[in-house]
Amino acid sequence: MSRATLADYLTTHTDSTSLQQLVIALADTSIDIRQDLAGGALNDILGAAGAENVQGEEQKKLDVIANDRIKAALAALPCVRGIASEEEDDVVPAHQGGEFLVTFDPLDGSSNIDINSMVGTIFSVLGSNADGPLSEQEFLQPGRQQIAAGYMLYGPSVMLVLTVKKGVVMFTYDPQSGQYLLTDDQVNIPADCKEFAINMSNQRHWAPAMQRYIAELLEGKEGPRGKDYNMRWVAAMVADVHRILCRGGLFCYPWDKRKPEQAGKLRLMYEANPMGLLVEQAGGRICTQDGPILDIQPEQIHQRVPVILGAANEVDLCVSYHQS
Ligand code: F6P
Ligand code: MN
Repeated sequence: MSRATLADYLTTHTDSTSLQQLVIALADTSIDIRQDLAGGALNDILGAAGAENVQGEEQKKLDVIANDRIKAALAALPCVRGIASEEEDDVVPAHQGGEFLVTFDPLDGSSNIDINSMVGTIFSVLGSNADGPLSEQEFLQPGRQQIAAGYMLYGPSVMLVLTVKKGVVMFTYDPQSGQYLLTDDQVNIPADCKEFAINMSNQRHWAPAMQRYIAELLEGKEGPRGKDYNMRWVAAMVADVHRILCRGGLFCYPWDKRKPEQAGKLRLMYEANPMGLLVEQAGGRICTQDGPILDIQPEQIHQRVPVILGAANEVDLCVSYHQS
């Protein structure tokens, strides 16, 4: 059976040749990152890099390697005006005449690297009409304005999951041909589910509404929801969201009272918005306790946000508990 390549898909689903080039460049970079990961300890790339990122988190060697690879690949494209990365303190200028801004999390779930578990690269593409020097301000656009978003997942196989706002499609890397080939062109998140993902060890620190919502799921058949729920937690958002795009479910990373001034753990521009566009394009929902994430006007590139995403009916119910 002959399958469409990533290039075939892009040619038929976007008129913008520069967007096509941008996505292909990201895909090519993921093949290099895959090589880095595949060597593991043999490549001396496991462990800490010896520095912290701007959010005070320890950087892994592979965070830095992946960041540098993606930065170099994007900077080589005339269509890229600037980038913002979870691993960079400030926005990084590329080409002043470029039409795109790219934000990315070079290696999401990087605490999984040292245990040979799944990680991924998440990206978001925004437009810019600005000229003159690049400013952070240009990046501060609500997620709904994204032009494209996706991720590359480094698992038993390497996958590229993409939206150019025409639904969500999945490609699997074929090592034989060196191509990403289309393996799912109808990604859909059912409105109901029987599986949820949350770091349960934080339960006692959540807001009362979140505690109540999760407690009801845990009560299963005997509780108000009248059915049993299963639980999964990969500890890499990219892999947890991938499972939800494959077979449905709910994912939450809520606010927590240990750091009341911090909105959540996950980053709006590098994680929540790109995953949000994918989830909404697949028929799911993504919200904070106050409403849709894709409508949030960002105030700064590294800002954090609480996240409730996946099956629409579950997200709506969870949000409604916070509002009552
Ligand atoms: O990027 C942050 C992140 O690694 C996510 O990918 C993941 O969902 C979460 O943190 C894991 O958090 P915890 O350490 O609480 O399990
Ligand atoms: Mn991350």
